[in-house]
Amino acid sequence: MTYKVGLLGLGTVGSGVAKIFQDPKGRHPLLPDIEIARVGVRSLNKQRDVAIASNIVTDDLESIVNDPAIDIVVEVIGGIEPAKSLILRAIANGKHVVTANKAVIARHGNEIFSASKQKGVYVMLEAAACGGIPVIQALKQSLGGNRISELTGIVNGTTNYILSRMYFEGADFEATLAEAQKLGYAEADPTADVDGYDAADKMAILASLAFGDRIKLEDIYREGIRSITSSDIGYAKELGFTIKLLGIARRTDGNLEIRVHPTLIPLQHPLANIHGVTNAVRIAGDPIGEVVFSGPGAGAGATASAVVADIINVVAALKSVPNHINQLMGCSHEHYAKIAPIENTVTQFYARLLTHDKPGVIGDLGTAFGDHHVSLNAILQKNTIHDGLAEIVVVTQKVSELNFQKAIAAIRELTTLHSIPTILRVL
Ligand SMILES: NC(=O)c1ccc[n+]([C@@H]2O[C@H](COP(=O)([O-])OP(=O)(O)OC[C@H]3O[C@@H](n4cnc5c(N)ncnc54)[C@H](OP(=O)(O)O)[C@@H]3O)[C@@H](O)[C@H]2O)c1
Repeated sequence: MTYKVGLLGLGTVGSGVAKIFQDPKGRHPLLPDIEIARVGVRSLNKQRDVAIASNIVTDDLESIVNDPAIDIVVEVIGGIEPAKSLILRAIANGKHVVTANKAVIARHGNEIFSASKQKGVYVMLEAAACGGIPVIQALKQSLGGNRISELTGIVNGTTNYILSRMYFEGADFEATLAEAQKLGYAEADPTADVDGYDAADKMAILASLAFGDRIKLEDIYREGIRSITSSDIGYAKELGFTIKLLGIARRTDGNLEIRVHPTLIPLQHPLANIHGVTNAVRIAGDPIGEVVFSGPGAGAGATASAVVADIINVVAALKSVPNHINQLMGCSHEHYAKIAPIENTVTQFYARLLTHDKPGVIGDLGTAFGDHHVSLNAILQKNTIHDGLAEIVVVTQKVSELNFQKAIAAIRELTTLHSIPTILRVL
């Protein structure tokens, strides 16, 4: 029997998927049993870099999800609508769904997975987080025997590219972002990447699989990388750290914390040497200890690799036990996780302060930190920089976020303080 795929979208990822099916030799033996039977696009006249018979291409995507001949709908159009409605319609029509759409899954996974459970169909999403890295299947299947305690990842290639160039070249954020946009590594509107929204979407998906509950996107604390300057990168280096946009999901003392923010990472940490657009995820669990996955988090080939693996998995499952959902491939949790507020986080902090260059400044800072039980691990003071201002960098010991913020509020009241350009957390 041949399984028929309706491919919604023939852009970067859709074309990558089509190319794999057009060249199955040496790949999985199930590929010849799968046919891309219909393709949906927005513009029928666009020049494509993959040859598709025009009689299977349509701009009426509803007709594909309603087509009784289609077994599996592959959604690679992106965005919220019409993607969400098309996925729900496909499910309602009893079709299995493969999607690369983190935005839809992170926001509407609840509705989509409830519908798929009711209909007894698969919704597969390997490509929705970290592109080509097979981390979702690892969480669903290969690491199933573990109690996961932590999942930490560089899950956004654009910001990792920018921060890597800033680290190696000492370049400033704005100039590096402009360069990344010119090279096609950053979108014209970079908000989703540089402000951490894309990373938060992916962390919602990964943490949900790692910790076994649904995650509300709005419960994830999020900060982007716009405030990082070349001097922060320089100080971090001097202190033995690099700076990465990290997604951190961690269970401590029964509390689940999930956050996305720029983070100082010790240079010997496995994620410190992940550079450029590469993604990486470190998972800690009992009894495995620690595993690190790294690889291409985006791109036509990498993302199509994950999409096609999902299609093959669905077909293999349907061939072996039809009309039965393999629990290892589904997302079965129904309850929302309670996420600890950021104030409960206990971590080290880095702060860069500009002060008036007067005697007693360091003493004032020490008193304000001490009054709020914030102990310091390192303090760096450079020569007066300009206009009578001195730059002071502090790294704290592990302290509660609440105490640290109280100390910072007290420091903001000091007459010797000019400003606090950067506050970052340390891994
Ligand atoms: N690109 C990556 O490296 C990557 C990595 C991981 C995940 N993803 C995810 O994969 C999905 C697709 O990304 P992409 O980069 O392939 O996007 P893309 O290059 O912009 O392609 C989108 C495709 O969907 C079609 N489309 C969009 N809106 C449509 C509509 N309203 N009606 C009909 N067709 C519509 C477009 O048609 P036309 O071609 O006619 O315009 C195009 O073929 C997104 O969810 C993205 O987040 C992408």
